[in-house]
Amino acid sequence: MTKTSLPLDVDLTDPHTFADGIPHDVFARLRRAAPVVWHPERPDGPGKGAGFWSVTRHADVVDVNRDAHAMSSARAGNMIFDALGPEGSVGNRMLVHMDPPQHTRFRLLVNRGFTPRMIGRLEDFMVEITQHTIDRVLDRGEADFVEDIAAELPIQVISQMMGVGEEDRPKVLDLSNRLIGFDDPELGTGENSAVQAGFEMYEIANRLGKAKRAALDAGASPTDIADVLLQAEVDGEQLTELEYDMFFLLLNVAGNETTRTAIAQGMLAFIAHPEQWERLRDDRSLLPTAVDEILRYSSPIMNFRRTVMGDQEIGGQPVKDGEKVVIWYASANFDEDVFPDPLAFDVGRTPNEHVTFGGGGPHFCLGANLARLELRVMFDHLLDRMPLPELAGPVDRLHSNFNHGLKRMPVRWKT
Ligand code: HEM
Repeated sequence: MTKTSLPLDVDLTDPHTFADGIPHDVFARLRRAAPVVWHPERPDGPGKGAGFWSVTRHADVVDVNRDAHAMSSARAGNMIFDALGPEGSVGNRMLVHMDPPQHTRFRLLVNRGFTPRMIGRLEDFMVEITQHTIDRVLDRGEADFVEDIAAELPIQVISQMMGVGEEDRPKVLDLSNRLIGFDDPELGTGENSAVQAGFEMYEIANRLGKAKRAALDAGASPTDIADVLLQAEVDGEQLTELEYDMFFLLLNVAGNETTRTAIAQGMLAFIAHPEQWERLRDDRSLLPTAVDEILRYSSPIMNFRRTVMGDQEIGGQPVKDGEKVVIWYASANFDEDVFPDPLAFDVGRTPNEHVTFGGGGPHFCLGANLARLELRVMFDHLLDRMPLPELAGPVDRLHSNFNHGLKRMPVRWKT
């Protein structure tokens, strides 16, 4: 079978296509007309003309996500343009870039730090940070919702988990912004490049990890998730120094900007749907479904990429060994076959089988319950303490086809 070519004049690798957020009309047309379609890449672009299979329907995204043997994360990374080094290079020491059985062993080790009990222990801390964040802005009646409100909780929680002291926290936040904003000119170029930020973050991880190991070796009791990770053992093996440092880096990339985006995009959704704010304010039993609807609607990670292992089929379309596959979570989350009235923001939506944390399978987001708890605590307290804000200026979006992030969202409210 020949490759069905893209029926639209649209470039999904171009961040401009996402300038106003998720291009819902483009994805709806693709789901209908060409759900698994070959997307060419410009020869002079970062993908060097390789091209990829673009997968937009919910059912196909879930299938690709679940089959880690047929759809590799290790062979060439998770991002559209990734080209990782040979197997075993530093790049492949990151959990997201591993395939089974390497992934299985590593995941068992780090799971120890993410049990419901470990996550639950962070709730009081989350409440404290959220209250403090709201206290700081409440009387002002205006704020940049992204920087002043949404950004604080996720970075503080990761830092708390990983034992980052107050003195390192601003640096860690700045570095993780640069790591994720790689294709935004304001955040990711020159000396500020993502690669440089990665090195600096790695150095911090290494310094803190060494100090923690020394303290544990000297008999100190474990105090945080980092200590649990350093002590975890599977089949007599522990995380190596390099593995620990890479995991620290991954958590800062995976858990910070994503959760901030969900909080900020969640508030933007409430501003556009004020009746949902009132509904939730008056009935907090809806918080669990509201959190999942915020996650679906915000779709902070818009895509992930895999590489085909051996000739396969996706949704009836043959795909060949070594070809790239891009799964669009931002499309699957609005698939009308799964979500009635998908563009409606409905805090009571059930069922809600969104794929915001991935479509299931071995790489399913390790921090899903942590992120859910952060969103619950944040919106519960915002609803208690603030009226619904209104936009006080234009929303400034991250220039990216990967992260549905907001850089600035000026808001004001009555004091
Ligand atoms: C709303 C917030 C979040 C979103 C949208 C999100 C999204 C995702 C997605 C889509 C994946 C799957 C990657 C794949 O299939 O290859 C993933 C994996 C992962 N996430 Fe999250 N995430 C969020 C929050 C967090 C948090 C708070 C943490 C930890 C602090 C975290 C840690 C991870 C890790 C370690 C992985 C890799 C798991 C593996 O490869 O086995 N995430 N996340």
